[in-house]
Amino acid sequence: MSTERFAALWESLSPIGKVGDDGGYIRQSWTDTDLACREWFVEEALDRDLEVEIDRNGNLWAWWGEPEGDRAVVTGSHLDSVPHGGAYDGPLGVVSGLLAVDVLRERGVTPARPLAVVAFTEEEGARFGVPCLGSRLLTGAFDPAKALQLRDREGVRLGEAISRVGLDPERLGPDPERLARIAAFVELHVEQGRALDHIDAPIGVASAIWPHGRYRFDFTGEGNHAGTTRMSDRHDPMLTLAHTVLAAEEAARLHGAHATVGRVDVAPNATNAIAARASAWLDARAADEDTLRRLVEVVHQRAEERALTDGTLVKMTAESSTSEVAFAGEVSRLAALELNAPVLPTGAGHDAGVLAGHVDAAMLFVRNPTGISHAPQESASDADCAMGVEKLADLLARLCQ
Ligand code: GLV
Ligand code: MN
Ligand code: MN
Ligand code: MN
Repeated sequence: MSTERFAALWESLSPIGKVGDDGGYIRQSWTDTDLACREWFVEEALDRDLEVEIDRNGNLWAWWGEPEGDRAVVTGSHLDSVPHGGAYDGPLGVVSGLLAVDVLRERGVTPARPLAVVAFTEEEGARFGVPCLGSRLLTGAFDPAKALQLRDREGVRLGEAISRVGLDPERLGPDPERLARIAAFVELHVEQGRALDHIDAPIGVASAIWPHGRYRFDFTGEGNHAGTTRMSDRHDPMLTLAHTVLAAEEAARLHGAHATVGRVDVAPNATNAIAARASAWLDARAADEDTLRRLVEVVHQRAEERALTDGTLVKMTAESSTSEVAFAGEVSRLAALELNAPVLPTGAGHDAGVLAGHVDAAMLFVRNPTGISHAPQESASDADCAMGVEKLADLLARLCQ
C-alpha cells in the first residue's frame, strides 16, 4: 500500500465533522455528521462490491463473501469521536479495514471464510455517556431497555435519536447469532500514548486493556448570593467538588492508576451566585480491578468527608464499567508472531475489549508521534498508516485461510 493510496482514502473522510476552530472533530452518534460518516462508509463498501448491512444496534457491516457462510473474520473500529477529538481514534481502523480488502484482492487472496469490515456505534460514549455502546448491546453487556432511556446533553433519549434515523428501538439488544458467526476480530487503532514512539516501532500488538469505570458525583448545596453570604454560612457544592477532584488525583498517583474529572456541570452556573448543585464525572482506570475499586472507594469516602465540612450532600452513581481484558487468544498470539511486533497494554477502552469476552480478538496499534489522543493533536504518519494496512492484511490473510 503506497502512502498516497492511504492518504487518498483518508482525505475523503477527513472533512466530515472537522471543526474549524482547533482542527479537531465532533462526530457524535446519530447526528447529521455521523450520518455523513455512515454514508461515506456505505459508498466505499459498495464501490468495493461489499455487501452492506446495518445490525439491530446500528453497527455497520460490509461483507466480502456470504455473511451466512463459514464463521467470519472481522476487522474495523468506530467512526464517532469525543468532542474536539483527533482524526485517528476510530476512523483509522475502519479506513484500514477497507484498504486491507483492496490489498488482499491485489495479492490474489480469496478468503476461505467471509471477511467483514465493521464500524461500531457510539464507541466513545460521547453523546449518551456509555462507551462501546454498539458492541456492548451486540454482546448483551448492556441492557437495551436502559440504553433506550439514556439521554444526551440536550435531553434527547437514545430511543428517540435512533427512531429518527429509522432504527427500530424494539429491536435493540443482544445478537448472539451474529456473534456466533464471528471466528476472529481484529481492531487496528492509533496508539493513545508514546510507547511505540519511544522504542521506534511503527506497529504494536495489544496485550491487555485496563479495567475502567465512569462515575457521576452529584453534589447538592445551597444556592445563595456571592456578595452577601458570609464564608462561614455557605453550603457550597463547588468546594466539595473541588476537593473530590483533588482526592481523585491523589488516589490515582498513590495507586499507580489514572483518574480524570473531565466534565462538570454547575447550576445555576453564574459568577455572582454560590452554586446550588454541581455534578462531576470521574473516569477511573487501573491495572487491576481491586486497585480500581479501592481508588473509587477512597474518592467516594473523601467526597463524603468533605461534604460534612461543607454542609452539602454527595451521591455517587456508577454509570458504566468495563472489566480487565487480556488479549491472550490465538489471534493475538498470531498477530505478535506474524507481525514481529512489540506487545503493550493500554488504558483506553475499545470495542475489541468488549468483543474479547465472546470472540477471539486482537488489536494492532499504529505509532502516534505526539502520543496525544482525544484531542486535535492526535497523530500518525501516512507511511505508518500504510504499513498498518499491510500488516492488517497479512494478519487477515492468515486468519482467512
Ligand atoms: C474510549 O476511547 C476510552 O477509552 O475512553
Ligand atoms: Mn477508539
Ligand atoms: Mn477514544
Ligand atoms: Mn476507545
